[in-house]
Amino acid sequence: MAIPPQKTALVTGCTPGGIGNALARELHSRGLFVFATARTLEKITDLKELGIECLHLIVDDTESVKACHEKAVQILNGRGLDFLINNAGKTIVRPAIEINMSEAQSLFATNILGIMHLTQTFSPHLLLAKGTIVNIGSVAGHTPSPSTASTARPKPRCTPTARVCVSNSRPLVYTLCMCKPAM
Ligand SMILES: NC(=O)c1ccc[n+]([C@@H]2O[C@H](COP(=O)([O-])OP(=O)(O)OC[C@H]3O[C@@H](n4cnc5c(N)ncnc54)[C@H](OP(=O)(O)O)[C@@H]3O)[C@@H](O)[C@H]2O)c1
Repeated sequence: MAIPPQKTALVTGCTPGGIGNALARELHSRGLFVFATARTLEKITDLKELGIECLHLIVDDTESVKACHEKAVQILNGRGLDFLINNAGKTIVRPAIEINMSEAQSLFATNILGIMHLTQTFSPHLLLAKGTIVNIGSVAGHTPSPSTASTARPKPRCTPTARVCVSNSRPLVYTLCMCKPAM
């Protein structure tokens, strides 16, 4: 595939009906070269039909992150990544004491470790493009309720997690921004 000449973005969690899918469409319509990712590729054929590059990605699976990175790098062919949009996330709307530990571990693996892993993995390409990391957090981090307690814990951590990755990358040449949607 030819080197994409335009700005590039990778969006995680692009299932139809969600924020990631809408972001992928919007960025594509504005002329960016978009990598739309999903853990079930068949779910995002709508984006493939628009000509968007679709890649398989499970953010809390090391091998999947590696494979996605390899494919993206092949297509980028030496170019940087302008936007890494960490959108994939899990929400559990239930009192924290009713959540079993494997659910809790899966929540943190996706909402925290997934972001850290993606940020680390794509750092060289973000640095090359002087790019931006966009983390989709949640207003639940600021207005926790009993039923969102489990989501409220990891979500505010999205920013510090990526900030650490950014501040450890000297010289500081990429930007971090945080979105906090509310239902
Ligand atoms: N919509 C809101 O009001 C709201 C409010 C607060 C925060 N948020 C945040 O906004 C983001 C998008 O939410 P949404 O409302 O658009 O919900 P959504 O449609 O459920 O989107 C979540 C996406 O993340 C994917 N995902 C989940 N676990 C994953 C994993 N381990 N690896 C890769 N992908 C994974 C899901 O894939 P599958 O389809 O395979 O499950 C889905 O594509 C989330 O981070 C969420 O916490 C949304």
